[in-house]
Amino acid sequence: PLVSSLPLIKKAKEKKAAIAAFNIHNLETIQAVIEGASEERAPVIIQTTPGTLRHAGIEYIGAIVKKAADMVDIPVALHVDHCPSFDTIVHCIRNHYTSVMIDGAHLDYEENVALVKRVTEMAHAVGMQVEGEIGKIGGVEDDMFVNEDEAALTVPSEAKQFVEDTGIDTLAIAIGTAHGMYKGEPKLDFERLSEIEAMVDVPLVLHGASGVPDASIKEAIKRGIAKINIATELKNPMAKAIVSTFEKNKDENDPRNYMGAAREAVKKVVKEKIRLCGSNGLA
Ligand code: 13P
Ligand code: ZN
Ligand code: NA
Repeated sequence: PLVSSLPLIKKAKEKKAAIAAFNIHNLETIQAVIEGASEERAPVIIQTTPGTLRHAGIEYIGAIVKKAADMVDIPVALHVDHCPSFDTIVHCIRNHYTSVMIDGAHLDYEENVALVKRVTEMAHAVGMQVEGEIGKIGGVEDDMFVNEDEAALTVPSEAKQFVEDTGIDTLAIAIGTAHGMYKGEPKLDFERLSEIEAMVDVPLVLHGASGVPDASIKEAIKRGIAKINIATELKNPMAKAIVSTFEKNKDENDPRNYMGAAREAVKKVVKEKIRLCGSNGLA
């Protein structure tokens, strides 16, 4: 069934695990996540960026995920990722979304707090939880682009203040990850993570997990990360599976063949990432 994400995240944290949150784009990727999570007996978060909502439609995504979640006996949460708009968040909540991320990273501190607080008050009034972000995660996601000099690691004291000022339920932090893949090996600032974890009461979220070595993901979870966002590492196998279908038969024209291959490829990664997060068997 479709459920709130916060209890899932808290339960995973108690078990020294994290909930894998997968960015999806269409019917087949929703099925890949639900089937993969279901086979792993893992609570899971399905999330969409505003770009995906523009592409697929909030009503379509909400209805498909609601139906898919009702058909399985694992908890599934539906989350809007990196949303800068109060209105879009309301629209999502009206369409089966069970938690939201308000992203005010482009604003200065005071404006960011004002926006996040407004969203949090509204969301809490209707029983929804809110993820906020402090610091700036680098890389490209949708129409957001943060280059290396603009990216800013989270300052622990600011994280504490931000949580207090806004009333958010989970906090996304910048500790050296970036959206998309990496040129070299990303270096995560684990000490900063532990410092933030010691100062902040709400569960912490790691964005930009694609391309981060498994050992670093595990260390991050050990130090308190309880939700792991994965987008690019699902997009890549999907594209590869489609390309390889057409390489085998350039006249392929059956969407069930190339999208079916894509769904299988994505599902395989979903299961691997769930095991990496240690959320398998928690449902
Ligand atoms: P990746 O594309 O690096 O997995 O980042 C995902 C993310 O943070 C979505 O919000
Ligand atoms: Zn992100
Ligand atoms: Na990444």
